[in-house]
Amino acid sequence: MAKVGILTGGGDCPGLNPAIRAVVRTAHRYHYDVIGFMGGWKGVLKNETQPLGLDHIDDLLIKGGTILGTSRTNPYKEPDGPSVIKKTINANQLEALVAIGGEDTLGVAAKLSLEGLPIVGLPKTIDNDLDATEFTLGFPSAVAIVTDALDRVKTTAESHDRVMVVEIMGRHAGWLAAYAGLAGGADLILTPEFPMKLVEICDIVTRAKNRKKFAVVAVAEGAYVLDETGKEISSQSSQPLDSFGHIQLGGIGDLLGSLIKKQTGFDTRATNLGHIQRGGSPNAFDRILSTAFGVKAMELVRDKEYGKMPALLGGKIVTVKLTEAVQKLKTLSPEFYHLSQNFFG
Ligand code: F6P
Repeated sequence: MAKVGILTGGGDCPGLNPAIRAVVRTAHRYHYDVIGFMGGWKGVLKNETQPLGLDHIDDLLIKGGTILGTSRTNPYKEPDGPSVIKKTINANQLEALVAIGGEDTLGVAAKLSLEGLPIVGLPKTIDNDLDATEFTLGFPSAVAIVTDALDRVKTTAESHDRVMVVEIMGRHAGWLAAYAGLAGGADLILTPEFPMKLVEICDIVTRAKNRKKFAVVAVAEGAYVLDETGKEISSQSSQPLDSFGHIQLGGIGDLLGSLIKKQTGFDTRATNLGHIQRGGSPNAFDRILSTAFGVKAMELVRDKEYGKMPALLGGKIVTVKLTEAVQKLKTLSPEFYHLSQNFFG
C-alpha cells in the first residue's frame, strides 16, 4: 500500500486535529497508509513517527491542539537538514508528505518542493497572514475566542467605568485584532498596519468614555504607537530570535494602558489574552474548513500535484502554489480596517 506522511509545524491552533482526521480518512479511501511525524520538521529530521490509522482519529474533530505535537524547527538551519529530510522520506517509502503550517512551515515546504521533494501544504495559523487564501484554519476559532473575551472585558469595564486595553496575538498582521475587535464592539482597534499617534488614540478613547463611561481598546501584539513627532513608541525589547528569525512579541497592551492612563487620567487596565487564543476546541467553521482542506490536500497527493496547497478563495476550496502562499505576508486590508474605523470612539 502507498504511504503518506503528515506533520504539524509552528504555533498550534484549533483545527489541526480535524485536518489530520480528514487527511487520514481520505487517505484510507484512496488506499494510502498514513504516518505522523512528531513535533513538526523536528520529527522528520529525527525520523520520529507514529502510525495514524482510522482507530487513532475518532475524537479528533472536536479536539484542540495537535496530537502530533509541533515545534518551530527550521530544517534549513540544521546541518544537512534538507538531505536528512529526503532520507527520512525515502526510508519510510513515502509517496508524499503533507505539511500543515503557517508561513514558516510552508516556507520550508515550498523550498523543499522546489528541490524536487513530493510535498503538499495545508494552511493554518491564527494570524491569518498567509497569502493566497482568504482564511487559514485556526483563525475562525481564534476570532470567536477573542470576541468572547472582549464581551467579558466589556461587562467589567462597564461596571467600573474603566478603560480596558486587550492585547491580541497576530504577530505582524492585525487580522485577529481587527476581526475580533469588530465582532466584540471594541471602541478602538490598533494594528501594526495602521499605527496611530498617542494623542489620536486618547481622543478616541475619551470620545467613547464620555459617551458611555467606559471604553475597550483592542490592540494587536505587533502594533506600536506614534509620539507627537511620528516617532515609534514600541514595547519590543531586543530578544533572541527563533530559528525563523522571529522575535517573541508582547507588552504593547501594558505600555498602551499606562500611556492612556497618564495622558487622560482614566482608570485603565490592560489584559493580555496570550495562549488562551490558541487553545481549546475548534469552532464549527474551523471544523469545516480544516476538513475541506484535509480532503483537498489528500486529493493533491493522489494526483501527484506537489508543491501546492488547498486555499479558500471566493468561498471555494481551490489549489494554489506554495510559493505563491509564502512570497509575502498577507497584512490587514485597508478595506477591513476602514470598515472597523466607523465604530471608533
Ligand atoms: O503565529 C501564531 C502565534 O500565536 C502568534 O500570534 C504569536 O506571536 C506567536 O505564535 C506566539 O508564539 P509562541 O507560542 O512560540 O509563544
